[in-house]
Amino acid sequence: MASHLLISSLLILCLAEACYGTVLFSSLKRTLLLQVTPKPGDVLKAGEDKITVTWSMNQSFPVGTDEAYKTVKVKLCFAPISQVDRAWRKTKAELKKDKTCQFKIFVGSYELSSKKTQQSFDYSIAKNVPTATFFVRIYAYNAEDHEVAFGQTTDATKKTNLFTIESITGRHTSIDIAAGCFSAFSIFALLGFFIAEKRRGRNSQKN
Ligand SMILES: *[C@@H]1O[C@H](CO)[C@@H](O)[C@H](O)[C@H]1NC(C)=O
Repeated sequence: MASHLLISSLLILCLAEACYGTVLFSSLKRTLLLQVTPKPGDVLKAGEDKITVTWSMNQSFPVGTDEAYKTVKVKLCFAPISQVDRAWRKTKAELKKDKTCQFKIFVGSYELSSKKTQQSFDYSIAKNVPTATFFVRIYAYNAEDHEVAFGQTTDATKKTNLFTIESITGRHTSIDIAAGCFSAFSIFALLGFFIAEKRRGRNSQKN
């Protein structure tokens, strides 16, 4: 009897763990308000520009809604327009498999209280951020490190209030193209010079 109880409670624990292990984005409540400095349509430069992020609890929710919130993570997320034909950026319902938000820009403890109603920080855009259209999302985690709530700078369809980041490599490419054209031009100029020299040599032999 006792062993039965033990086995069944173990089984229930395992099941609970398995269920909890898969957190679906759709299960999260949008209770956090999030604001960033880029305006819709802005173009920022990776490795140069900064984003100021401000977040707070949406006060429309009852007091205590955020009781379980222990930490927060803020991430840069690909807008649908930058996910097209890119499986490695795909949105998945299961958060562990979701590739929408790949760039962590802040990790900290959830410290909102009556004294401190909002938190703010500056993020310098990392150099490895690729050229794409983005929005920003914040996740709140409970003591077990599972996502329990979120907030984002865009609407549910992820189509409004987006901004663009231009990568360093993108900018280098245009410099490289310019350099390439320039060296191609130098080779042609050099060739032209040799041909002209040869002709001149031939002409002087004839005379
Ligand atoms: C706060 O949450 C309520 C209820 O979900 C929602 O109607 C409202 O739009 C939210 N406030 C803001 C500023 O997003």
